[in-house]
This record gives sequence, C-alpha cells and structure tokens, in this order.
Amino acid sequence: MKNPLYIRIKSQERHIPVYVGKGLEKQLVHWLNEIYPQHAVFAIMDDHVYSIYAQRVRDHLLAHPGFKKILKFPAGEFSKNRRTKSVLEDQLLSARAGRDTVLLAMGGGVTGDLAGFVAATLHRGIPLIHVPTSLLAQVDSSIGGKVGINHQQGKNLIGAFYQPAAVFSDIRYLRTLPRDEFINGLAEVIKYAVILEPSLIDFLENHRERILAREEDTLLEIVSLCVSLKIRVVEKDEKEAGYRSILNFGHTVGHAIEKLTDYRTKHGMAVATGMRVALKLSHQLLGYPFSQVQRICRLLDGFELREIQVHSLQFHELWNAILSDKKARQQTPRFTLMRSLKEPALFYPVKQEELKYAVGG
Ligand SMILES: NC(=O)c1ccc[n+]([C@@H]2O[C@H](COP(=O)([O-])OP(=O)(O)OC[C@H]3O[C@@H](n4cnc5c(N)ncnc54)[C@H](O)[C@@H]3O)[C@@H](O)[C@H]2O)c1
Repeated sequence: MKNPLYIRIKSQERHIPVYVGKGLEKQLVHWLNEIYPQHAVFAIMDDHVYSIYAQRVRDHLLAHPGFKKILKFPAGEFSKNRRTKSVLEDQLLSARAGRDTVLLAMGGGVTGDLAGFVAATLHRGIPLIHVPTSLLAQVDSSIGGKVGINHQQGKNLIGAFYQPAAVFSDIRYLRTLPRDEFINGLAEVIKYAVILEPSLIDFLENHRERILAREEDTLLEIVSLCVSLKIRVVEKDEKEAGYRSILNFGHTVGHAIEKLTDYRTKHGMAVATGMRVALKLSHQLLGYPFSQVQRICRLLDGFELREIQVHSLQFHELWNAILSDKKARQQTPRFTLMRSLKEPALFYPVKQEELKYAVGG
C-alpha cells in the first residue's frame, strides 16, 4: 500500500487520510485500533454488498474490541430516503450506539451518501469512515464530504457537508462489481480526464484492455490519480461556491436524461451523453478543438458508454428538465464547458437554439 493521500480541509484545519490500495482490511482495523481504541464500531452495507463481504469484514473487525454489528438495507437508489435513514438510526440507537461510535459506510455511492448522512446527524455527528466499493464511489462520491438523501421532488435535496475521518479505497472490491456498474464509474474517470488531466486520456486509450479486464495495478493507478484530482478541486472549493462546479461537466444534460427516464438510465451512461453534448457546445460556442471532441467520443464508445439519442426524447422536455436544475438562472441553463484542453468555462449560459443544435434535435 502506498502512503495515504490527504484532503486538507481548510475550514476545519483537518487532514483527512485517503488510503488507496489492494487488500486494506488489516490496515483499516489497525487504524481503527490506533485512532479510536475506545469507540464502538458499527458498519452499514446494502444487502448486496453485505451478501458478498459481511462475513469477511466481520472477521477483520472482530480484532477491534468495540466492534458491535453490521447493519444492512436494501440495495438501490430507492433506499436513499428518509425512511431508510430512520430505520438505520433506530437500529443504531437500539444497539446503544452513543457519541463514542465510529460508523463505517461500506459500499457504493448510495451507502456512502445515506450512511454518511446518518453519521452526520446521529448525536450531532459521529466519526465516519468511507469504505467505497464501487468505482464511482472510489473515484468520486467518497471524496468531498457531500452526504444526503433524495426527496420525491428530486435527488440529493436533503443533506450536509460532512467530512469523513478517513477513506479506505480498496480496489480489490472492484473485482465483484457488476460490469455495468464498472462501466458506469468509468464515465466519471473519463470526465476527470477531459476537465483536469489530458494525460489521463492517453492512458485510458492505451490501457483499454487492461482496464476492462480490471487489472489491479492499472486500476490502482487510475483510482489514485482520480482521487488526487478530486482532492485538488475540493481543497480549492470545499462547499461548491464556484470552482467545484467544474465537476458538473456533462451533468446538466446527464441529470435531465436521468430525470426524463425516471432514473432507469444509469448515471454514468447519462453523464457520458451529457459530456458529448457539453463537448459539442464547447466547440460550437468556445472554439474547443473539434478533433478533441471526436477523440473523447471515440474513447466513450471504446468503453461501451454509448450515446443516448437525445433528440428521440422530446427536445422541449429535455429543455424543461434542464431549466428545473438548481443551477439554471432566469430561464437560462448554466453549463460547465471547456474553452481548451485545460481551461474550463464555468456557469456558461446556453440558449435554447444552441442546445438544440448540439443535441442534433
Ligand atoms: N456524495 C457525492 O459527492 C456523490 C458523487 C457522485 C455520486 N453520488 C451518489 O452515488 C450514488 C451512486 O453510486 P453507485 O453508482 O456506487 O451506486 P450504488 O451504491 O447503488 O452501487 C451500485 C450497485 O453496485 C453494488 N456494489 C457496490 N460495490 C460492489 C462490489 N464491490 N461488488 C459487488 N457489487 C457492488 C451495489 O450493491 C449496488 O447494487 C448516487 O446516489 C449518487 O447520487 C454521490
């Protein structure tokens, strides 16, 4: 295992360690014994991750004197709600989880967001450890401190910024991740390459086979790089006052597609199409090189992130869904676009005809 990366949270003068490696269970328990020797330890998993990993994780956690139990909830986005949150809280309180409790959120982004929000509010905040097990959670949701749940009116409408005490990102968990979930996470990896690290584009082009075969060292390199890129953004703009919105590249149209398809389209798939549209807009409006647009589209194709035909959805429905986005101002949506390979254009206003042209509708 390499030395940890650190997230420097300026507002709290804290350094949060992020361990990225292969087979980290022993280190995790060692760390818990060292930092929280007197605490009670609980873990939360979804039932899918539980069925694969609970036994093994329990065997390791038993080496901590305060280990209590692993709680589970039904896997899937539909569990990211108030009801599941209160069920988990009831279970923790019945098991006498006090203020001296550490909570491990082990799973994909749903578990991280939900269990993270439980940790943020139980006893006004107990220590949280993220153990992300999906590619999306490793490269994205476990870093940055956003936790929360959905509401009927939309995704992630209730939540908090709550930084974990540590993150343990073990790429061996990715072996058991279903293929479509792995591909889903790759969309975010490609996003980092486009907005922050052009050399990652070369790497992804040159290592396609190894990535799809989930070769460990290749994944280790990718996850470590993406984690350090996200840390860089979060450190500059912890609470999304401005610069952090660079991470929304591809998400304006992506979120609209998810909404219009009742969340049946996977986030990564929707964002991949959103990135294609954002790249075309970047070319159309800001002169971003067309050869680069073509190159990224080929890369997305190569990783099976195929284009969703946006014009087959009614354009006005797409437009309205985008306008209901919290970032729209005065009936004009704001996009994260790129001016050049390394220069973003944040909150760029896009007109209806411009978007229509870019989606080919
Ligand atoms: N907090 C943030 O900054 C942030 C950022 C991006 C996304 N998110 C949130 O993340 C969520 C999506 O995350 P996700 O794609 O990881 O979804 P998810 O948590 O639902 O996981 C996807 C599926 O993979 C399974 N799984 C996870 N790890 C596995 C493993 N190692 N082996 C086998 N199966 C495994 C899960 O059980 C689930 O069925 C969304 O709710 C989104 O809003 C949050």
